[in-house]
Amino acid sequence: MMKLSENTFYVTTPIYYPSAKLHIGHAYTTVAADTIAKFKEMQGYDTKFLTGSDEHGQKIERKAEEANKNPQNYVDEIVSTFKVLWDELGVDYDYFVRTTDTDHERIVQKIFQKLYDKGDIYKGKYEGWYCVPCESFWTERQLGEEKVCPDCGRPVEWVEEESYFFKLSKYADKLLNHIENHPKFIQPETRRNEMINFIKDGLDDLSVSRKTFDWGVEVPFDNDHVIYVWIDALSNYITAINYLEDEDEFKHFWPADVHIVGKDILRFHTIYWPIILMALDLPLPKQVFGHGWLLTETGKMSKSVGNVVDPRRLIDDFGRDAIRYYLMREISFGTDGTYSTEALISRINSDLANDLGNLLNRTVSMVEQYFDSKIPEPVKSTYTAVDKDLKETAFKSLEIMEEKMDELKFTVALEELWNFVRRTNKYIDQTTPWILAKEDAKRDRLASVLYNLLEALRIIAGALKPFMKETPVEILKQIGYEGKIENISWDDLKEWNKLQTGNKVKKGDPIFPRIDMEEYFEEVENKMAEEKKEENKAEEVEDNLVSFSDFQDVNLKVAKVIEAEEIEDSNKLVKLQLELGEEKRQVIAGIKNYYDVDELLGKKIVIVANLEPATIFGYESNGMLLAASNDSGDMSIITVDKDIESGSDIS
Ligand code: MSP
Repeated sequence: MMKLSENTFYVTTPIYYPSAKLHIGHAYTTVAADTIAKFKEMQGYDTKFLTGSDEHGQKIERKAEEANKNPQNYVDEIVSTFKVLWDELGVDYDYFVRTTDTDHERIVQKIFQKLYDKGDIYKGKYEGWYCVPCESFWTERQLGEEKVCPDCGRPVEWVEEESYFFKLSKYADKLLNHIENHPKFIQPETRRNEMINFIKDGLDDLSVSRKTFDWGVEVPFDNDHVIYVWIDALSNYITAINYLEDEDEFKHFWPADVHIVGKDILRFHTIYWPIILMALDLPLPKQVFGHGWLLTETGKMSKSVGNVVDPRRLIDDFGRDAIRYYLMREISFGTDGTYSTEALISRINSDLANDLGNLLNRTVSMVEQYFDSKIPEPVKSTYTAVDKDLKETAFKSLEIMEEKMDELKFTVALEELWNFVRRTNKYIDQTTPWILAKEDAKRDRLASVLYNLLEALRIIAGALKPFMKETPVEILKQIGYEGKIENISWDDLKEWNKLQTGNKVKKGDPIFPRIDMEEYFEEVENKMAEEKKEENKAEEVEDNLVSFSDFQDVNLKVAKVIEAEEIEDSNKLVKLQLELGEEKRQVIAGIKNYYDVDELLGKKIVIVANLEPATIFGYESNGMLLAASNDSGDMSIITVDKDIESGSDIS
């Protein structure tokens, strides 16, 4: 629902190609966007978080063809797995845009028409190189000697076709100006220069339609052409908020606050997209953030190397909150990082099980033990410097977190939160509640200490809300928090003494059980061995079976032997003349040792009629007769036992 708030925050992810299952790299982008959206929501912004799927183009068309499916059915199936994954990962997007949505297609056509009417699109002829997997055009100069795509390293295809062109060059100076005057527009800083150089090298006009396939949005005024997939795709950021159709909604959210994309597609987002927007007289997004690659220990993830990390498997093994935490904590947003299961387990054990899990466990246990589970009333007169320090650390951490979240420095924000988690653990060691509990006179102090610990946990749970799904809920439940988690705002965390006293705490299972690294890897190995066995079994079964359609491909027919003659120089071969209805055929068969030629005459035998012709012993053979043989070396030709006409089909 759209609120009438001045403070809006619009964040987007790339729309992913439904050409394969999504992997941990895609999850990384999407979790980051989800985290910042959840954070802004807590800050009271009217937030819009958009993700979706990029379903048109030659690559998808070819993939569908390979899978023997029509493109729409093909993408429908894969896109539904995207949604399941986001759900499993606790990603709460506000809208999922599909480029095959009719609303999207209609608005894309309006955009194209607008650009054409303005004179920024014109008809010409494209001659050049095209990378189908990246859906990218390249000039000779950009390709270099090897003729491979500079982005993905795969071979490019030569394309020669009539095409519409978009006047990129017309806006190059204006774009350079914008980039120079808006230092935050391209982030991180390090990628800015790369983009500036690309523009300074000179922008050729961009081919924006294709004629040789049709899985795309039709050019509205020329149905021989479909709109180039990147124009179709980039437009999603404004079609999803009803550009040209709902002015109020569009104005409410546009310009976007940040497009989060991988560095691989930064060029499209910081050059092509802004120029389209300039041509449409629209403001540019406030920021495009190009994060780094998530690599594996064996390099870039790729199907052929077999090192693709499946986020669903990780969710099964470790739970979504641990994965989300790891992704945002371990790899600095902006630089490349390496995914490793060891590092993931270490994070779970040290940060989540040890620091956070123990803090919760110890605190709740003490309240149960010393105050009959009731949240005690703190007694201000017992406060000392250590309490002040705890409180100040909390507020300082929140302040730094806010600042770092705005810069999308998730890693630093979490580091800061963990400073506070560790500070709180230290507070237990400093205040030694178990010693206070021994003296009645210290009861008020004990109450204050335990209350402060619970209060610290309330703040920690709240600050974790953008990063995790069920953990904050579980912490709040255990510490006896009454309110609803949805209602906790970021400002609520900046107040101490919000937790209602008198409610009951309730210990639960450890929020993050420790993982024994060795045991885990052993289990994985066993599981993999088991899977391999199953696969082998399945392959064996497959080897022994043919599909019905394969069987149907074999054309068996009844044939009558009308002539039979031994081939002189051969020990085995007989030359048969066969009648198949009207048709006559010659077949060479290895049956000399089993039949006299005379006894063959008139027999109605079975032959494979659609076998490729072969020359055997210098004679052409058109087909193969069927015969049974046994271990003792006897052979019997298969015949039909009724008087069926020759040429009849056998099925
Ligand atoms: N369909 C285009 C984007 C159109 S946006 C208008 C596309 N799709 S994609 O499926 O290939 O997704 C690319 C994005 O996925 C990257 O930009 C990045 O955000 C994310 N990642 C894919 N692999 C990744 C890693 N190994 N590491 C980090 N992010 C990665 O391009």
